[in-house]
Amino acid sequence: MTADLLITDVRPYGGDTVDVLVRDGEVAEIGSGLRSDGPVLPGGGHVLLPGFVDLHVHLREPGGEESEDVATGSAAAALGGFTAVFAMPNTDPVADSAVVVEHVARRGAEVGLVDVHPVGAVTVGLEGAKLAELGTMAASRAGVRMFSDDGRCVNDPLIMRRALEYASALDVVIAQHAEDHRLTGGAQAHEGTAAARLGLTGWPATAEETVVARDCALAREAGARLHVCHVSSAHTIAVLRAAKAAGVRVSAEVTPHHLLLTDARLSGYDPVNKVNPPLRTADDTRAMREALAEGVIDVVATDHAPHAAQYKDTEWQAARPGMLGLQTALSVVLHTMLEPGLLDWRGVARVLSERPAEIGGLPDQGRPIAVGEPATFALVDPDAQWTVRGAALASRAANTPYEGMRLPGRVVATVLRGRVTARDGKVTA
Ligand code: DOR
Ligand code: ZN
Repeated sequence: MTADLLITDVRPYGGDTVDVLVRDGEVAEIGSGLRSDGPVLPGGGHVLLPGFVDLHVHLREPGGEESEDVATGSAAAALGGFTAVFAMPNTDPVADSAVVVEHVARRGAEVGLVDVHPVGAVTVGLEGAKLAELGTMAASRAGVRMFSDDGRCVNDPLIMRRALEYASALDVVIAQHAEDHRLTGGAQAHEGTAAARLGLTGWPATAEETVVARDCALAREAGARLHVCHVSSAHTIAVLRAAKAAGVRVSAEVTPHHLLLTDARLSGYDPVNKVNPPLRTADDTRAMREALAEGVIDVVATDHAPHAAQYKDTEWQAARPGMLGLQTALSVVLHTMLEPGLLDWRGVARVLSERPAEIGGLPDQGRPIAVGEPATFALVDPDAQWTVRGAALASRAANTPYEGMRLPGRVVATVLRGRVTARDGKVTA
């Protein structure tokens, strides 16, 4: 009998070696010595994980195609082991209407490398003043499940309260970029010794912590689901822990760069290190790692933020914040979490795949590797080492903060519902 795909010699979650037979996009059989007349993907004894789900990427389409578009961003995602991404709405025009979210979803389906889920804006034009039509976007063909003004905070507590009430009624999630803009006016770097030495206006950690505390209270009152984007400060962890203990429906993400990089990198004034929220201290990165291991932070999300050279290769003050993340995320997670023993392979699957799929409301992603489940995988060579080169990444932009670094672990293949989307560093669909 012919099968869609036979994947040989793989270790699900780093365990024993098996073969996986795929039929009609689903796992038909798991065992040893399986045979097939159809196409074979030799697994090389590598680790098989469920495909990764990224709750936070910027694909820049429409309007920012000089930095990225759905095709180049999808390629970067597939090469990074991702099978689903959530595309933030800070595009031009802003994704605050059914027309724009449907366009992004349609482009994602046409490209076909990864499931692209548009995130709808919370407020019209991301201006923070008037609620966007959340219900219309949720009911559109794009089926929006997550709303955010990311890049900006929904600062007005009354608007945030209304958004959470609608979110509760629609059973969608509000993803907040927690930054009290009154506290970060003119801010350029984490408020601390590095910024003081360089003469950069400081960005206080309290600008994040206070918004998260407020929003947890509002979410509790509304019975709504709140997701906190890119947690960067150790102080925020205590707020999240208390809210979760009190039963607030709150989840949180940390970026790979906030797990690894600190404001010590600012000394060279290289704008590749400029990001919002800013890189903070070694105490903060340590707190992020521990909170992720413990589950107080639920997931890793990349905040993949491509910027063309004209926006990045400029003086610090003028440079746009953001860094690439899709093709380096797994390696940074292995380096910061798996290698020190803070997570095992099951834990890696939890933070990169299972929990993000739950939070994003994706029933066929982040599923266990088991018979009858979707054949949606990332195949990872855990022993490979590679040197990051921005110019060699699939993104249109090259603003990786890991340029020249040697990182562990490589995605050797990505499979979406039985279809190989990336293999040996090349996209295949
Ligand atoms: O660094 C960032 N870049 N943070 C954000 O919140 C937005 C993002 C972007 O769109 O470039
Ligand atoms: Zn953000």
